[in-house]
Amino acid sequence: MKIGIDKIGFYTPHLYVDMNKLAVARNVEPEKFTIGIGQEKMAVAPITQDSVTLAANAALQILDDADREAIDFVIFGTETGVDHSKSGAVYVHHLLGINPNARSVEVKHACYGTTAGIQMAKGHVALNPESKVLVLGSDIARYGLNTGGESTQGAGAVALVISANPRILTLEDKSTYLTSDVMDFWRPLYSDKAFVDGKFSNEQYISFFQTVWDKFKDDTGMELNDFEAICYHLPYTKMGLKALRTVLDEATEEVQERLKENYKVSTQYNRNVGNIYTGSLYLSLLSLLELQEGLEAGSRIGLFSYGSGAVGEFFTGILESDFREHLAADQHASLFESRKEVSVPEYEEIFDQTLPTDGSDVELDINEDPANICISGITDNMRQYVNKLR
Ligand code: HMG
Repeated sequence: MKIGIDKIGFYTPHLYVDMNKLAVARNVEPEKFTIGIGQEKMAVAPITQDSVTLAANAALQILDDADREAIDFVIFGTETGVDHSKSGAVYVHHLLGINPNARSVEVKHACYGTTAGIQMAKGHVALNPESKVLVLGSDIARYGLNTGGESTQGAGAVALVISANPRILTLEDKSTYLTSDVMDFWRPLYSDKAFVDGKFSNEQYISFFQTVWDKFKDDTGMELNDFEAICYHLPYTKMGLKALRTVLDEATEEVQERLKENYKVSTQYNRNVGNIYTGSLYLSLLSLLELQEGLEAGSRIGLFSYGSGAVGEFFTGILESDFREHLAADQHASLFESRKEVSVPEYEEIFDQTLPTDGSDVELDINEDPANICISGITDNMRQYVNKLR
């Protein structure tokens, strides 16, 4: 039975900061951010968006009534969840009106959470072929103003429907994975900002990629020539390129050119959003599928997932015959076009606006936020979510 990605949705907040202007404000050459890091625009989440609302907005675009009935499992991958106990999946389940006879859970391992969710979903569909699983990957990446990681922040979410007979990408069965206890990036419970050893995290990312790729080749006999493209988890768009470059000489020149060209296309959305942590790999896949016009059905795409701390996985998918008809490229183009630029001082002000952590109530103005689903405040320690369409 074929199992894989049947639908993909994406959402990013309506605000962004220009990386050239951020560079000037931080006294660095703009090329460091636009070429050295490889980012053009960085999404900025207003206080009325959190990981739950971003995920719900991403899923809202793709679900129809038949999906709401058929989905019996909601898996929410995040490392910036809003509650230590209650899962974000339950809020999204409610906000989207999914049928009550469903399981809803949150999974965590840094940027690997969505991949873990997809693999769980695949197993669930293998046992229950009529099921559909909604897998969400949603995060707001925060390192802090004026920090080394600042240029690699971002915000956004992906939503994927995993089912039998998928219409976009069939996931192949073989995958290779690796776990090793390393402190390259982490966020203790008391901190709303990540701690990171930047250079070490880059090294670990590359080393994990090489290890799972080598094992994949040993286990399957496949080589680079078998791939139309490889998509990477993209904390910033230069990162995947660094990893790709370490293996490129395994391929013929023609294949090297193809992989480099497709890599470039697969980074376009991420370049304009920033790191969305656990959704980043799937945003890159979406960028490739929606922007690479030459992509043909039957092509094999490689996917490298990395979550600091660390877990890595290499797996693959085959494009379905009419995959293009099931994408929403126009909708995503309008989402990008409708965004509003904020100045660096405005971004700093928004960054410093946080919800109270002392138990007090707050009411937020959601009229400025064009998103359909927003957080409108906190009452008695309970987040208040609004779906404006209801
Ligand atoms: P940094 O110290 O700001 O930058 O750290 P740098 O000095 O390393 O420079 C970056 C690049 O810009 C270099 O290129 C420079 O040469 C180049 P490279 O040598 O790397 O190819 N550069 C220029 N290029 C053109 N013109 C110029 C110029 N100046 C310099 N004028 C770092 C950068 C990414 C380390 C930092 O931003 C950081 O710590 N970010 C957060 C950590 C991170 O993203 N790590 C990635 C791997 S870990 C991961 O992916 C997991 C993660 O998503 C979390 C999770 O799993 O949950 C982060």
